[in-house]
Amino acid sequence: MSKTFEPKILAFLCNWCSYAGADLAGVSRFQYPPTIRVMRTMCSGRVDPTYIFEGLENGFDSVFVFGCHIGDCHYIDGNVHTAKRMNLVKEVLGLAGIGKDRMHLRWVSAAEGQLFADSVKELSEVTAELGPLDMEAAQLPLAAARRTFESPRLRWLLGMDRELTERENVYHEKIDPAAYDQLLKEAAKEELEKALILETLKEGSLSVRSIASKSGLPVYTVSQRLGDIERAGQVDLDRYEGTTPLFVSLAV
Ligand code: FES
Repeated sequence: MSKTFEPKILAFLCNWCSYAGADLAGVSRFQYPPTIRVMRTMCSGRVDPTYIFEGLENGFDSVFVFGCHIGDCHYIDGNVHTAKRMNLVKEVLGLAGIGKDRMHLRWVSAAEGQLFADSVKELSEVTAELGPLDMEAAQLPLAAARRTFESPRLRWLLGMDRELTERENVYHEKIDPAAYDQLLKEAAKEELEKALILETLKEGSLSVRSIASKSGLPVYTVSQRLGDIERAGQVDLDRYEGTTPLFVSLAV
């Protein structure tokens, strides 16, 4: 680990397994670095994806989520949903250029104090290798990533995972889990692109080219997504500058 940089990490611990595992690590005097600030939640499934981005926006260098092993969740399948959501959080962190390794998910039981200490040590080293999060560069992509997970489309898809893949609809159809994962990734990418445009437009009316250069998106993608969000009533044509149309955000 870098000697000059000690990362500041937000760690969500589920009450029934991981928090008890951390407690055991403490009473057993297992050593781990003082890098984490703990938030206790009743279940890892209670950790909304937006909390990860809020943590990073508020100055943490990475965020860890600890929960019960699969099959041991005290709310039956809360951690199954956690795994699905956090996989997508990693995907969006990668797409947004923030880095997939700014977030980690681990399972630790109440009896695994040593595993908790080892996990904090290992993941703190990974974060230290990454270095501090450059908030100036990450501000826009983080806000866009958070907005991505606030989109009704993505929230609906994430909330319906088991309905769509395990139970049949009225036509006796269900979606193949691999096809559902692909659908989720494509939806997340599109929602991130829309969110990047909306966040960029917070600074005022802009042309397609200006949005592209400020957001890092290709001009073609900006044109395509602007059409989508214009139809959804979140963006409108503001005025012309010469012959160039400038767009304004109507979203909150
Ligand atoms: Fe621990 Fe659900 S209670 S993950």
